[in-house]
Amino acid sequence: MENYQTVRVELEERSYDILLGQGLLNQAGRHVIPLVQSNKVIVVHDENVTSPHGQTLIANLENAGLEVATLELQAGEQTKCLQQLERIWDYLSELRFGRDCTILPLGGGVTGDLVGFAAATYLRGVEMIQVPTSLLAMVDSSVGGKTGINNKFGKNLIGSFWQPKMVIIDIDTLKTLPREERVAAVAEIIKYGVIYDAAFFQWLEKNIQAVCDLDPKAITYAVKRSCEIKADVVSKDEREGGLRMILNFGHTIGHAIENTAGYGTIRHGEGVAIGMIAESLLALDRNPEWKAPHHDRLVNLTRAAGLPTKIPDNLELTKEQLFDAARSDKKNRGGGTRYILPIRLGRVEVVKLEDKDVEETLIAIGAK
Ligand SMILES: NC(=O)c1ccc[n+]([C@@H]2O[C@H](COP(=O)([O-])OP(=O)(O)OC[C@H]3O[C@@H](n4cnc5c(N)ncnc54)[C@H](O)[C@@H]3O)[C@@H](O)[C@H]2O)c1
Ligand SMILES: [Zn+2]
Repeated sequence: MENYQTVRVELEERSYDILLGQGLLNQAGRHVIPLVQSNKVIVVHDENVTSPHGQTLIANLENAGLEVATLELQAGEQTKCLQQLERIWDYLSELRFGRDCTILPLGGGVTGDLVGFAAATYLRGVEMIQVPTSLLAMVDSSVGGKTGINNKFGKNLIGSFWQPKMVIIDIDTLKTLPREERVAAVAEIIKYGVIYDAAFFQWLEKNIQAVCDLDPKAITYAVKRSCEIKADVVSKDEREGGLRMILNFGHTIGHAIENTAGYGTIRHGEGVAIGMIAESLLALDRNPEWKAPHHDRLVNLTRAAGLPTKIPDNLELTKEQLFDAARSDKKNRGGGTRYILPIRLGRVEVVKLEDKDVEETLIAIGAK
């Protein structure tokens, strides 16, 4: 029996498999070989995963007979920039890599987004195999084909859709991920339960400690179910025409908090956690099937995961600042601000609300 599981992402001729399991970097070669057009591959990796994960992956690919080039990236969001993109393009040109090469980003969402965009644009597009090593990249950024970089006007403003040939998730790589990175990503996992799957939410309520402690069975199931849900949503709406918007539950207010507090003050996942609580509060007044006990369950689960449920007191964010930030979010251009509200566990709706309808809720989550 194989020691890994598979999630299929159905996108017609762009369909691909997500493999997940323990020790997969050590058998990457045999999964990669059938997908490559030539033996030229490059592993572009975050400096924080060079050792041991990069070494393990590279050695395994070489043992499988591939010619492996490597390039190391500095860790951090500032790496998702034009200069680093150019560095990858130039290196590929210098190596004389042709259209038949394959690029493997190894790292978190920063690496996946930047290197994925390099793959989308080098020679008008070459094959890519994502190898995510952060929990956020495993459950979110490596699935769905969005790639891109930031510019001085904001995050992810430049990019393209570019689907990988495969995603290889080695759960063991999470052992070296700092705990606070892991906790922040659990917010996205909770999100999947609320928007799509009440049974998964209930499972999380029972298993949240095991997930946070990286119990192999629990974390594998949580990552797998998250990938399945994102894959399902993406396959029904690859280019964010409608349904894909439900993935933004918690993000309107979450992004506003993250941006207003200044990058690095509050983690994305922490913002999303507070945003989910706020959007749940908004639903309490509007959706008859979303009742106080449901809200309380979300609060308790969020807390149990070690995530915040309110804006930290020392941040002093005003509701005006948050409204401004929410309005300038690229997903909200064109009048009104969109929020994703739960209808019941496992189902959400997209609504446009006026600032006056949201004010009280912002105060309730700690805005000034
Ligand atoms: N493409 C999408 O659909 C999508 C979705 C969500 C987020 N994103 C993007 O993803 C990025 C955030 O991703 P992230 O949270 O993974 O950030 P990240 O890539 O910066 O990784 C977080 C930190 O963990 C380190 N790290 C990663 N894996 C590690 C490991 N196994 N061991 C030790 N350290 C490790 C990194 O060096 C970094 O310091 C943002 O740029 C965001 O815009 C993209
Ligand atoms: Zn998110």
